[in-house]
Amino acid sequence: MESICVWGGVALQGKVHIQGSKNAALPVLAATLLTGDSSYIRNCPRISDVHAMVSLLRELGCEVNWKEDGVLVNPAGICLGEMKSDAVRCMRSSLCLLGALLGRCGEVVMEHPGGCVIGSRPIDLHIAALEKMGVSFAVEGSRLKAVVKRLHGAEIRLEKPSVGATENVILAGVMAEGDTILHGAAREPEICALCRYLENCGALIEGTGGETLAIHGGRTLYGTDYRVPSDRIVAGTYLFACLVSGGNILLEDAPASEMESVLRLCEQMGGHVCISEEGIYVQGPAVPKAGGYVRTAAYPGFPTDLQSVALATASVAEGETVIEETIFENRFRIVEELRRMGAEIEVLNDKKVLVRGVPYLTGCEVEAKELRGGAALTVAALRAEGRTTITGCSYIYRGYENICRDFKELGARIISV
Ligand code: EPZ
Repeated sequence: MESICVWGGVALQGKVHIQGSKNAALPVLAATLLTGDSSYIRNCPRISDVHAMVSLLRELGCEVNWKEDGVLVNPAGICLGEMKSDAVRCMRSSLCLLGALLGRCGEVVMEHPGGCVIGSRPIDLHIAALEKMGVSFAVEGSRLKAVVKRLHGAEIRLEKPSVGATENVILAGVMAEGDTILHGAAREPEICALCRYLENCGALIEGTGGETLAIHGGRTLYGTDYRVPSDRIVAGTYLFACLVSGGNILLEDAPASEMESVLRLCEQMGGHVCISEEGIYVQGPAVPKAGGYVRTAAYPGFPTDLQSVALATASVAEGETVIEETIFENRFRIVEELRRMGAEIEVLNDKKVLVRGVPYLTGCEVEAKELRGGAALTVAALRAEGRTTITGCSYIYRGYENICRDFKELGARIISV
């Protein structure tokens, strides 16, 4: 299934279940290596990034089996921290295995995770933090080698609230001798999910959700039964799809408490939101209103992962919207594709664009160049006249279980080919 075809003009109606969070499931799966026995990770999304992580765990010697609604991981057979798989090269999310493997095996050899289309994705913060805990690094060609004789606690300050670096410090910290105090920690809900899993396993972590964490090491960790929270980015994607199409939908199980900045923008753009135990009801306006000034920021700011979707929505809104991307250096690749559909977007500088909304876009062939940009093109196509064909959809399946099925259940005219 490499392409998605959408015939726009249908207002989405009905309800859609929100899948488990990709960015919570991945570090939790890495953390299953730290216990001596099996963990059952429920609500694990069936997406290609998770399948790649499962392959890596198996390559490392773990027994991993999918069950009806989750993944059972038995790390007892883990051998060594040598990851040769292609999955490492193409997946940034494997980086959280670095901290877990150092905690479990004391040694990791992996392909340098490298950059991607949205940015250079450096790992200097990961390296600097883990070196303070006693880890030595060496780069051998395209490979990164990390080894530690005695993993010990440390006081660490992150210059940027890096999600991945925070996760690696937590994963190493729970296995280190002594305590680790982490200042400048990322506060994303995915960090809280990882801490909750580890606490269920017997770890002691103080300050979860805040900028300073105290991670108490040296405790024995046991496998547990854990449910991955719903995916706030998938929920936000579908919420903006409702705005774009002028629909009326229920986002079942959506994590509303993690989406304040997103719900604020949705209401600013004319959406009516009602939160209930079932999830988030959203009613879109006939025509979205402009979003004013949208600036991405670390949590609890507006998430960079929904920036492209907000841009697509602003493209068909009444009036002008300025969008500023502060997290990644190259996250406007979707602009050229939206322009092909008739969007009026002016690039003000490499971090800022001005969008002048148009009543409708025009369907044509466009290309997904990365995960969230691909999802945003699918959203834009819902308000395009005629047929839009989105190629490069394997990117979308990295983070969305089945965007076609979900939109079709909501009444969209959409097929995957
Ligand atoms: C996580 O990536 C997410 N991925 C990203 O989601 C998300 O966009 C990002 O956090 C920000 O919220 C996963 O959780 C698997 P960072 P991560 O380290 O950890 C710079 C998606 O679409 N930085 O918080 O890689 C970095 O360049 C993906 O689901 C350094 O300078 O992001 C960026 O500018 C895309 N040095 C900023 O920090 C470092 O050592 C934030 O990056 C590390 C990061």
